[in-house]
Amino acid sequence: MQEKELAARPNGDLIDEIAQIMKVRARGERPMAYVHSYGCQQNVADGEKIEGFLEQMGFGFTQEPEDADFILFNTCAVREHAEDRVFGNVGALKNVKRRHPSVIVALCGCMMEQEHVAERIRKSYPFVNLVFGTHVIHRFPQLLLDVLVNGRRVFSRGDESEDKTIVEGLPIHREGRVKAWVTVMYGCNNFCSYCIVPYVRGRERSRAPEAILEEFQGLVQAGYKDITLLGQNVNSYGKTLETPVSFAELLRRLDSVPGDYRLRFMTSHPKDATHELIDVIAGGTHISHHLHLPFQSGNDRILREMNRHYDRAKYLDLIRYVKEKIPDVSLTSDVIVGFPGETYEEFQDTLSLIREVEFTSLFTFLYSPRRGTRAAAMEDPIPAAEKSRWFQELCAAQEEIAARRCRAAVGTCQRVLVEEEGRKEGFLSGRTDGNVMVDFPGPASLVGQFAQVEITGARNWILSGRLAGAGTDQTEIEN
Ligand code: SAH
Ligand code: SF4
Ligand code: F3S
Repeated sequence: MQEKELAARPNGDLIDEIAQIMKVRARGERPMAYVHSYGCQQNVADGEKIEGFLEQMGFGFTQEPEDADFILFNTCAVREHAEDRVFGNVGALKNVKRRHPSVIVALCGCMMEQEHVAERIRKSYPFVNLVFGTHVIHRFPQLLLDVLVNGRRVFSRGDESEDKTIVEGLPIHREGRVKAWVTVMYGCNNFCSYCIVPYVRGRERSRAPEAILEEFQGLVQAGYKDITLLGQNVNSYGKTLETPVSFAELLRRLDSVPGDYRLRFMTSHPKDATHELIDVIAGGTHISHHLHLPFQSGNDRILREMNRHYDRAKYLDLIRYVKEKIPDVSLTSDVIVGFPGETYEEFQDTLSLIREVEFTSLFTFLYSPRRGTRAAAMEDPIPAAEKSRWFQELCAAQEEIAARRCRAAVGTCQRVLVEEEGRKEGFLSGRTDGNVMVDFPGPASLVGQFAQVEITGARNWILSGRLAGAGTDQTEIEN
């Protein structure tokens, strides 16, 4: 069979052709897609781009793989557990494919950038039709059409040139109407010794500030109320642009867009977080008083081994400055327990750091060796059961801190963005500026609006309250 040459054609043509093919191929009235993104928000944002393409191809979306004509898992490689889950779920698709042989099964995301994973899929999961990495999302229509018209399995990971480019203008199918993600930079140059991300996401590259501003203005105009800027290390944003722009400057420009919204960002790396950045947050109009600043470990030797480029004193200095400039700041962080060679005494430095800082919440991880990283080759003598005990100790300490912080919020009045109706009838669920969840009784018409909520109680790190006032506040309407 003559294989069709697809690469030279514009995406629009390819999308039209896929739409025609899928109309006939669909089992129901219209083709349906099931898309699941694992991992971080950056992956979720990528998933929304692929969904954007699928929408243009005429697909509707379903939550049930069983009802889908196209199934996509957008995978995460950050820890072994994440990968195991993906392999388990892909394995389960074998039966779906047996029942519906016409369904196209595709895998993308960070795991697929690893050669040994692609190889395992090639050999052990023959029912997977399409595998593509994080660098080639813009070529998704071409890859899918190749599967459809040439009937072969397609594997694509992109080459070095694609590591440096950013393709603007991809369609986006946003999942909600209240919260939105804007990727400001791709990749990571830091090579923390435990981390796979730089290997699967490539080198750091920043989007042009004009492109970001345009997308951002569009979101504000469309009524999005909680917009999060994304990057693995947003503080090194703009360094590789022809005309460098600092992240603090980007934030300032976005914050000057008039409207009724809240602006967040993640993730900040402590080595690059500047006083200028903190000052911009403190002086901002829309920038939320929430800072996610992963510290990973409270011990200097471990931080050095992790290749983090800051020490405990520098981290705590930064925190001191943040608290001084933004007294109501809500701090969150990531931490790893059981890095190779970590001793119990060194782990105690992590415990003392969380007690000193008092984070609103913590994302705690047990160290997981990642193939090809520097830490994976280090001696790791501490048994898993021992590390688990330390992990429990850390979680218990943080629970106490979080509960105390929640109790301290009782009696305050908070500006809450109402995200959805609560689980209990007549209740609403939303988040404070500091990203803490609040439940309170109120009418469903408030979903997607800001409301003033008086905090009356706290349970399991979720606040409860009652409505003190609703609607947009006056100063912002005048903007
Ligand atoms: N770029 C961000 C986050 C990257 S991944 C940053 O630098 O902060 C999110 C978190 O996963 C990391 O902050 C780290 O705490 C954790 N993590 C990354 N690799 C890990 C590994 N091999 N084992 C355990 N946790 C890991
Ligand atoms: Fe991984 Fe470090 Fe880059 Fe974060 S900064 S993505 S932890 S290498
Ligand atoms: Fe996972 Fe990739 Fe994000 S490895 S954490 S999905 S950048």
